[in-house]
Amino acid sequence: MTAADVVACCRELAACTEEPGVTTRTFLSPPMRDVHARLTRLMEAAGMDVHVDAAGNLRGLYPSTRADAWRFLIGSHLDTVRHAGAFDGILGVVLGVALVRRLQGRRLPLAVEVIGFSEEEGVRFGIPFIGSRALQGTLDPAVLEYRDAAGCSVRDAIVAYGLDPGALPDAVMADRTAGYLEFHIEQGPALDAQQLPLGVVSAIVGQSRFRVDFEGSANHAGTTPMASRRDALAAAAEWIARVEREATQVPGLVATVGRLDVLPGAANVIPGECRATLDVRHAVDAVRKKSAAALTDAAREIGIRRGLHVYVYPQLDQAAVGMDPPLRERLERAVGQCGYPIHVMASGAGHDAMVLAAELPVAMLFLRTPGGVSHHPDETVREEDVEAALRVGDAFLADLAQAAS
Ligand code: CO
Repeated sequence: MTAADVVACCRELAACTEEPGVTTRTFLSPPMRDVHARLTRLMEAAGMDVHVDAAGNLRGLYPSTRADAWRFLIGSHLDTVRHAGAFDGILGVVLGVALVRRLQGRRLPLAVEVIGFSEEEGVRFGIPFIGSRALQGTLDPAVLEYRDAAGCSVRDAIVAYGLDPGALPDAVMADRTAGYLEFHIEQGPALDAQQLPLGVVSAIVGQSRFRVDFEGSANHAGTTPMASRRDALAAAAEWIARVEREATQVPGLVATVGRLDVLPGAANVIPGECRATLDVRHAVDAVRKKSAAALTDAAREIGIRRGLHVYVYPQLDQAAVGMDPPLRERLERAVGQCGYPIHVMASGAGHDAMVLAAELPVAMLFLRTPGGVSHHPDETVREEDVEAALRVGDAFLADLAQAAS
């Protein structure tokens, strides 16, 4: 399979959708069956044994020369956001199939399993990573009772697809699994801006989330002099500027106030209450925590100065997930061998690799995302970058095979 074949395949699979004219494909929805059928044909043509596990993950096993061989996983997710592009997730699966096809039947001293995860985006049930959690063996049974907007539970969806929720324990990865490699589009502008085809991921950034409530007092917008106001929105506005300044000054930090609820919310009333969200991310947990603390302190300080009450509610404190150093070095070596610049970067978004990292050595290779456009129908990849990923994948597998022999 050439790079052009891989791109064409992703574009064809984008037509498997719940909404005509756009690509929307959620956990075990009818179009997923079509994706499974088409990829199964490709996997079988490459010499893989294919099945769909009880969590709806498509799994193709390319056997080794040895019965007791270790297994190496290559994969990504097959579900999409609403009105998605053609490459987020599925490109990593198609690249895995292509790499096995390019072996042309030549067996390696390790088995290769290509996995298309059933669920990563969390669109249908509001909970992400159902597929990779099942593989990891940490899918909480309570998740089976989660319901989508139509009232269908995860369990119902699995049964309706013809799968057995009772067989979920069998979805766990094989005992002798050596590692996991995920190819994924960057979904950001960094590689494009630096004119780089590929990026080796060092870590998936950690994340802090807070709700920050500013409480002042509502009053008449016409009769209350400026000096005697306790304007909750004006305080929040000052704080938001502070958030932006922090993220601009600390290298690698991103911080976002994504939502504001202003009460009472009338043109002629001073805002008495403003509820804000804060999202802070960085690849180094200590840096993230320091900035998060500085920003929540800043909210309190602004509140005191303006005579407001400020309440800070921590909502998420998720540590950064590092990629496995030896596996990452192996990937960097393959990039270098193929003559591409070795660029190491953090991932600002979560991926299946983040979940599997708890169980396995994992590595990730990003492909440039032209314009940084993703989660959008205009999302695309350059064929030459897909070619680069294929060449690096070939070299990486050859190196792994050599180490296993
Ligand atoms: Co993705």
